[in-house]
Amino acid sequence: MSDDGGFEEILDGFWPYRKTTESFRTVPPGPIDRGLIYSEIAEMAHAEDAQGDKGTVSGSLYCGDHDHYAFLGEVFNLFSHANVLQRDMYPSATKFEGEIIAMTSSLLHGTGVGVVTSGGSESLITALYSYREQARETRGVTRPNIVMPKTAHVALDKGAHWMGIEMRHAPLTDAWVADVDAMAALVDDQTICLVGSAANYAHGLIDPIEEIAALAQSHGIGMHVDGCLGGWLLPWVEKLGYAIPLWDFRVPGVTSISADTHKYGYALKGSSVLLYREKDLRKNQYFTYPDWPGGLYLSPGLAGSRSGGIIASTYAAILATGESGYLAAADGIMRTATAIKDGINGTIPELEVIGDPTFLVAFKAVDELAIDIYLVNDSLKDQGWRMNSLQLPPALHFCITRPNTQDGTAGAFLDALRIAVAYAQEKQGVPAKSGAMYGFGGTPQGNATLEAVMAGVLDAMHDVAPEG
Ligand SMILES: Cc1ncc(COP(=O)(O)O)c(C=O)c1O
Repeated sequence: MSDDGGFEEILDGFWPYRKTTESFRTVPPGPIDRGLIYSEIAEMAHAEDAQGDKGTVSGSLYCGDHDHYAFLGEVFNLFSHANVLQRDMYPSATKFEGEIIAMTSSLLHGTGVGVVTSGGSESLITALYSYREQARETRGVTRPNIVMPKTAHVALDKGAHWMGIEMRHAPLTDAWVADVDAMAALVDDQTICLVGSAANYAHGLIDPIEEIAALAQSHGIGMHVDGCLGGWLLPWVEKLGYAIPLWDFRVPGVTSISADTHKYGYALKGSSVLLYREKDLRKNQYFTYPDWPGGLYLSPGLAGSRSGGIIASTYAAILATGESGYLAAADGIMRTATAIKDGINGTIPELEVIGDPTFLVAFKAVDELAIDIYLVNDSLKDQGWRMNSLQLPPALHFCITRPNTQDGTAGAFLDALRIAVAYAQEKQGVPAKSGAMYGFGGTPQGNATLEAVMAGVLDAMHDVAPEG
């Protein structure tokens, strides 16, 4: 640690380029040479991609094929400057968008009704908005609430927070999925919809969608399935013969599904599909305004102008991968995930896999007093592996993606994990670096401290590097 109590390290952590590149605080007085701009940015990109390309990172990078990215980049360029709102100029956007929705819908046995959004969060929050409006108009709901398992994605909590919707979290069963009886107990006449995940972010588990949908139907309300993560993968996994419970539109009470093309659809970041069973529900998110001096305004969702590049490149990503490409990727992902799941369960007695996952393996210490899982993470990090940290309970997860399917990855990871467990046993009692922020929560004071620190991090993420 530096003499200043670690301040330099903190600055370097947030702004690693502050000493090696110029930090612009004002617009440069004249144009900078494009070659210089490009080479500086490319250097950062190549350096930052290096770890992910090794296949030692959980989630985040779903495709990993740089030829695919380069092709998508070329397609993006053709329409990067085009605004998809202006269909008279760019009618191809209608073809791309309509066909992205149709292809996603065919995969999930839908009715061909949907929208393309900027990502999973926008799809989820938009769905909540549609349900809130539907409940207000058809049932006069004025104090809306949503019932979902506590593992459902936090973007839903964010959306509820923004839109004044009360969020009711249901506990999990012993199998770590939604406890439907507990969900039933939380539903009342102000509930606007139920939510389940396929699969959830934390543990990669599929909630009992058929039961939740039946509960929704019995109350005459809709159900959203968060398939942001699994939506573009589970259909292929099912086709390969793995036992996947029904979770898509084949389940009668499922009324909307989000499925992210920018995850296992292998599109560029910035695209997701929100599907509805009925056009009537989708209509709630449309905004039309006939009396604006700026003209007749119509917009399908939150965004105004959108780049045509992302729609065209998402369309191209699906066509360039094709069913055989998706199946081959899913096969590699499932083989790797299964090897890791079996390896932990069968050969590392100090750890246990949470539930019975498919492509994302979450694991925790069998005895939390004997093994601090965040110490395990410290060692994995030192060995070059980047896992995702979980809490409540403390755990890690490895979301398997295409870059992790390289030969030998599962074996190398299990070897590293054994070393990490031995490290954690040796260091038990020493505070873990990667767990520093965990454990503060759970009390009003602890949460207030954490919230202040997290807001400070967000501030820092929007600041230019401090001078000096
Ligand atoms: C299950 C699930 N839902 C929603 C999201 C949010 O997606 P995004 O980060 O694209 O907004 C994620 C992200 O990982 C996810 O795993």
